[in-house]
Parts: sequence; structure tokens; C-alpha cells
Amino acid sequence: MSLKIPKIIAHRGSPREAPENTLASFRRAKAAGATWVEFDVALTRDARPVVFHDDALDRTSDGQGLLAETDFEIVKHLDAGTWFGPQFAGEPIPTLEETLELLAELGLSFNMEIKTDPGREAELAKLVLLIARDIWPEMLPTPLISSFSRIAVAAAREVAPDWPMDVIYDRIPAEWKDDAKTLDLAAIGANHKHLTREQVMDIRGFGLKLSSYTVNEIERADLLFQWGVDAIFTDVPGDMVRHFGN
Ligand code: G3P
Ligand code: MG
Repeated sequence: MSLKIPKIIAHRGSPREAPENTLASFRRAKAAGATWVEFDVALTRDARPVVFHDDALDRTSDGQGLLAETDFEIVKHLDAGTWFGPQFAGEPIPTLEETLELLAELGLSFNMEIKTDPGREAELAKLVLLIARDIWPEMLPTPLISSFSRIAVAAAREVAPDWPMDVIYDRIPAEWKDDAKTLDLAAIGANHKHLTREQVMDIRGFGLKLSSYTVNEIERADLLFQWGVDAIFTDVPGDMVRHFGN
């Protein structure tokens, strides 16, 4: 399957302009010139997929405790905006469905990161792929599905055999080629802090795309692109798009 990704992917939307992983953040990313956004998806206690990064609710909402131990009925009333700024008061934690509907309306494609919810990776992956395939219009660019969890990617692959997927690594392990073959990967995601030029050449030479997170300095992005990195995830999509284009 072919994967077309832009150079710049807006990480959790535009998280320096709006609270991360909210509809407001995705709208800001669009206004900043991004064509793709990355977001994280995780399950509530009662198995509703919502767009949220942390295990705990505390940092980016007025909730407390673990998302995985909280029912959607509670989660849907939380305020995920005030912590960032009073102008975002009342901004909710979006459901996966609401997020995909907004992105389709804005014409923004996406990288969905399936969070590594211990013991529920496969359940989460299958559910979110079923939803995404149902909602996402075929005429829009095919998204990229990612996870740090091989279990999640394998389960996602069962539901969406024809969608491009990648495994994300902090440090790329020696067995990345085995993962690529077993899971039929289209790309590798890697922490730019540990990435080397040789790894970039190996991965690109093997025929995979390579995305790198989270890159917020122009000089660093420039070097990564020179090495052959295809895409960067960034918290400053406006600056990066202005400098590098898409
Ligand atoms: O996929 C890139 C990046 O989103 C991975 O790390 O913690 O920001 O979700 P994190
Ligand atoms: Mg992420």
C-alpha cells in the first residue's frame, strides 16, 4: 500500500496555541497551514474511544485519576481547555467520531496514534479502526495508523488490511525489519533524539517512510530532512510550514 505523508504533521494539533488534542487545537493547526494532524486515542472505562494523550486526566483536564478507570458519562463533561487558558474554558475531550468528522470537514488528514492501554491494546485498536473506516471519506488522503504497541498494530491490521501503518519507537530496535515484515508496515516512527543518519538511510533503503517526533527547532528539522526523514511531528506547525512548506 502506498503512503503519502507531508513533511509537517501537527502534533496533537497546534498545542502551543490551543489545548492539545482538542477540536480547537485541530482548527488552529489547519489555520497554521498544516495538512495533517497527529492525535492520540484511548479508551474510557466503558470502552468509548476519546482523543487524549496521558493515562491520567489531571494534566490536561479538570478531571482526576485514570481515563481508563473513568466512564464516558464523566469524561464527556470534563473541561480540557481551562488549564491552557480561560478563552478555552469548556473545550471538551473530543470523541474519536467528533474528531474525525471535524478533520474531514476541514480536509485535514491524520495520523492516529493508538495508545498502549495495557491489556486493552487489541480491543482499542480494533474498535478505533472500525470507527475510522466507517467515518473517513475515501476521497480524502488515506491516514496513517500508529502505535508504540505491536499488539495494537497487529490488531489494527486485521480490521484495515489496506491502510498504511507504522510502529513508533523511542530507540529503533535491531529487529525493526522483522516488525516491518510481520506487520506489513509502510513506515517507521522514531524519536529524533536517538535517530542516526545511518538508521535513516537503512530504513529508507528498505523502502519504508520515516517519521520523527517531536521536532520543534528549525535547524534540527532541516538536518533530519537532509538525512532523508520524510515527515516530522511538531508542536509548532505554523513555523515549520512557513519554513519548509508541506
Ligand atoms: O507519534 C509521535 C508522537 O505522538 C509519539 O509520542 O507521547 O507525543 O504521543 P507522544
Ligand atoms: Mg502521539
